[in-house]
Amino acid sequence: MKKIFLTGAILLVVIFLVYEVLILYDNNFRYGRMWETHAVRPLEWPVMAMPEGAVAVDGADALLRRTPPELILPTVEMKDPETIKLGKTLYFTYCAQCHGENFDGNGTVGQSFHPPLPDLRSTKVQSLTEGVLFKEISYGKPDGRQPPLATTIALSDRWRIIAFIQSLDTPK
Ligand code: HEC
Repeated sequence: MKKIFLTGAILLVVIFLVYEVLILYDNNFRYGRMWETHAVRPLEWPVMAMPEGAVAVDGADALLRRTPPELILPTVEMKDPETIKLGKTLYFTYCAQCHGENFDGNGTVGQSFHPPLPDLRSTKVQSLTEGVLFKEISYGKPDGRQPPLATTIALSDRWRIIAFIQSLDTPK
């Protein structure tokens, strides 16, 4: 009985000493402790107000969204090999996860869609005009599942991707 009591007392003293050593470290040594990092709490700083006109609510894409596809013109040279080359890189950044490396809709994400994605080389897709493609990629397909990417991909980069897609051969 006495032994248990003694062990308990020694344990308490040891815990107390360890605690004191840690506190001593925290109070006197300045490195490697998290309390040094200032945590920013929500709304600790005043919320910055954006100057008038910083976010375009009209013009540019807002205007294009209302423009019929046949009146929308590319902002890049669509047949330029350099445009197509850049478009390819952009395709593999923004589209391939769904539309696949072979443009057949069999990308890692695209596989799980049902019904499956259209083949981008198919006559159905290849016969779409560049204006229609631009609107679908930018603002999504009405009642469709193509994600609207206008806020994700810069305007000229969307045209470069379209130039690349239109350069693909339809499989025989
Ligand atoms: C999250 C997955 C996803 C991503 C990313 C995606 N798409 Fe799609 N896309 C779809 C789906 C799903 C459809 C089928 C739409 C439907 O049937 O309504 C589609 C359809 C299309 C079509 C055919 C439209 C038509 O009228 O038949 C084109 C062209 C297209 N996508 C191009 C692109 C391009 C270019 C990109 C990259 C900039 C892209 N997509 C990124 C999922 C995606």
